[in-house]
Amino acid sequence: MVEVSVSILSVKNENAIQTLYNLETAGIDYFHIDVMDGQFVENDTTNTMLEYCEYLNSISNLPLDVHLMVKDVKDNIDKFLAFEPNTITFHLESAKDKEQVMEWIKYIKENNAKVGISIKPNTKIEEIYEYLPFIHVVLVMTVEPGKGGQPLIPATLEKIRQLSKYIKENNIEVDIEADGGIYVENVEELKNAGANIVVSGTAIVKSDNFSQTVKKLKQ
Ligand code: DX5
Ligand code: ZN
Repeated sequence: MVEVSVSILSVKNENAIQTLYNLETAGIDYFHIDVMDGQFVENDTTNTMLEYCEYLNSISNLPLDVHLMVKDVKDNIDKFLAFEPNTITFHLESAKDKEQVMEWIKYIKENNAKVGISIKPNTKIEEIYEYLPFIHVVLVMTVEPGKGGQPLIPATLEKIRQLSKYIKENNIEVDIEADGGIYVENVEELKNAGANIVVSGTAIVKSDNFSQTVKKLKQ
């Protein structure tokens, strides 16, 4: 059993409210909010994500799983705190040093959200170890951050396996969330590697039966 966080990146504007409502009733566990600032990654989704969070605040009680792919982390934490998110995840690669990582962890916790740290495919998993005791979720990117619909990078599975082994050996309570290129066909591999939350965008949003796809992903 894994939890499913649906990435709303590929929800089209024209029928966004209806789509978001249909996703809500499809049995997902979280809405995954992909915030891109056009600097940390090429695309800029900030305004769309703010708009969708406005909708979600009025139609849904499901927790928001905010994924910040941004250069100015503090500024974006403040923008999305307004929606009382369940989790705010920033990229380790956005921080200039350890002090700044610890400062952001503290700030997110002070504002009653859970803390996630995300690492890009080329960032070594060992770089996250020292922060594990202080955070709730590690968001392991299984694609290069920046857009939806990309194929999963197989080498990232080994990172999840390694992380899962490390947290078990060290008795650390932290969720492992995998993000990018996850479909019904490959979700089993992510589960076996140790992920307990999977992010899925295209696989769900582009499917013709949301609840069936979500059910298959969760099995
Ligand atoms: C990529 C995002 C992912 C992506 C997932 O930068 O962080 O959440 O939107 O979408 P799919 O499932 O289409 O890869
Ligand atoms: Zn994401």
